[in-house]
Amino acid sequence: MKISFAEPVLPAKGAVVVLVEEGKKLSSAAKELDKQTKGAVTRAIGASKFEGKKGQTLEILAPAGSDLDRILLAGTGKEFDELEQQALGGNLVGKLLSSGSTEVTAIVDAGTKDLATAAANVALGARLASYRFDKYQTKQKDNDNGKPTLKSVTVGVADSAAARKTYGPMDKIADGVFFTRDLVSEPGNVIYPETLAAQCKELTKLGVKVEILDEKAMAKLGMHALLGVGQGSERESRTVVMSWDGGAKSDQPVAFVGKGVTFDSGGISLKPGPGMEEMKWDMGGSGTVIGLMKALAGRKAKVNVVGLVGLVENMPDGKAQRPGDIVTSMSGQTIEIHNTDAEGRLVLADVLWYCQDRFKPQFMVDLATLTGAIIIGLGHEYAGMFANDDKLSDQLFAAGTATGEKVWRMPLHDNYDKKIKSDAADMKNIGGRDAGSITAAQFLQRFVNKTPWVHLDIAGMAWSKEAKPTVPKGATGFGVRLLDRFVADNYEK
Ligand code: BES
Ligand code: MN
Ligand code: ZN
Repeated sequence: MKISFAEPVLPAKGAVVVLVEEGKKLSSAAKELDKQTKGAVTRAIGASKFEGKKGQTLEILAPAGSDLDRILLAGTGKEFDELEQQALGGNLVGKLLSSGSTEVTAIVDAGTKDLATAAANVALGARLASYRFDKYQTKQKDNDNGKPTLKSVTVGVADSAAARKTYGPMDKIADGVFFTRDLVSEPGNVIYPETLAAQCKELTKLGVKVEILDEKAMAKLGMHALLGVGQGSERESRTVVMSWDGGAKSDQPVAFVGKGVTFDSGGISLKPGPGMEEMKWDMGGSGTVIGLMKALAGRKAKVNVVGLVGLVENMPDGKAQRPGDIVTSMSGQTIEIHNTDAEGRLVLADVLWYCQDRFKPQFMVDLATLTGAIIIGLGHEYAGMFANDDKLSDQLFAAGTATGEKVWRMPLHDNYDKKIKSDAADMKNIGGRDAGSITAAQFLQRFVNKTPWVHLDIAGMAWSKEAKPTVPKGATGFGVRLLDRFVADNYEK
């Protein structure tokens, strides 16, 4: 979908969106439109419950005396903030995407003093909401509302040059979100370690350095925790290192690490059949890291970043890892496998260790669809956050509030760590049913070697069964906006 900015002039055709503040207070564009249509706007409001509250919309079709397809009134409330501006943009696309209209002009002239920023946010929301993954629907593209018709959104605003400038980097962030959504949406027969690594390679076009470690290279490094997970699959495992050098030469990088299990059958500890298809998105953490690298490189972020993803497929076959097996991780610590379905932590164990060992980063943030238990605890509102560093945790909490990609801190404690003691090895890979997300995080902590670190358990957030204003159903791209903001606000010059 094409997004552009223009002067705040009412269009002669297509669809138009005008703002109404709470208390049915028409913006100047809304008033002018009311005049043009001989009172259609005020009459429609009078005949409805529309008051101009946040999130409210009212659609008026084919108004008399005009060539417009439709008018959409959108409420701003008394004042609308960044996230509400994005939601308004998302809602307008939600209403118009498959409406029959092909073009819409949204006039942003109310609801806030900073209209240029509001216009940019409306544009971002509109773009994020326009995402569809329908490449495999050859007969009908019916993502709920039918085939999309809307091709372009023009945002009309007084200082359109300022809005265009503010929107510039936002568009790159949306590119990153879309890349993540595409990767996470692809099924396991299309995206597996080698093909996902090839997708990482695409980022070289943006100036990202991409290095791919194959199984031989990983074996040489001693990454047997990761390799053990992939050994029952016909697909070879990979680790990918992406780096973006946008900061000063001497700056230590910041690091992001993603779990990339391209399909998680559970392995020999096989998952039950119903719902197993969802485990194609068990590479969501890596998808977010890859999309984040795209966003940061796209907007030329002034920071040195490394993004590492551990890519494996967890399958049961004659060569698969057995419960009871003991593996030696790259760190030298040994792990007794009690459940082959607790595989994400095994992958991250080696990638986290490798990351801190090679890059000595300022900190590491890992993302993983790690435990079903975090969905029981937090549902689909907050990602679970575990941290050995209060400053990082505070910074991420703030970025979550600002972007709407929210994180909630959970505890770490030695007493949880005791739950993963093993009689046969240095640790086992599960800690029992209680506090399942926490014992998983305790396991990861054993591989960060005291580096400042945050673990985000995004099992409840990577995929959504219901649409939100700026997040259509399916792969959400959760974490790209969160981490982009976290970096922008705290680690860029
Ligand atoms: N990928 C799953 C976690 C998951 C479950 C993500 C449901 C999204 C939705 C992970 O590899 C897993 O299987 N975890 C087990 C751990 C258990 C065996 C200790 C779980 O959560 O059941
Ligand atoms: Mn699993
Ligand atoms: Zn998994």
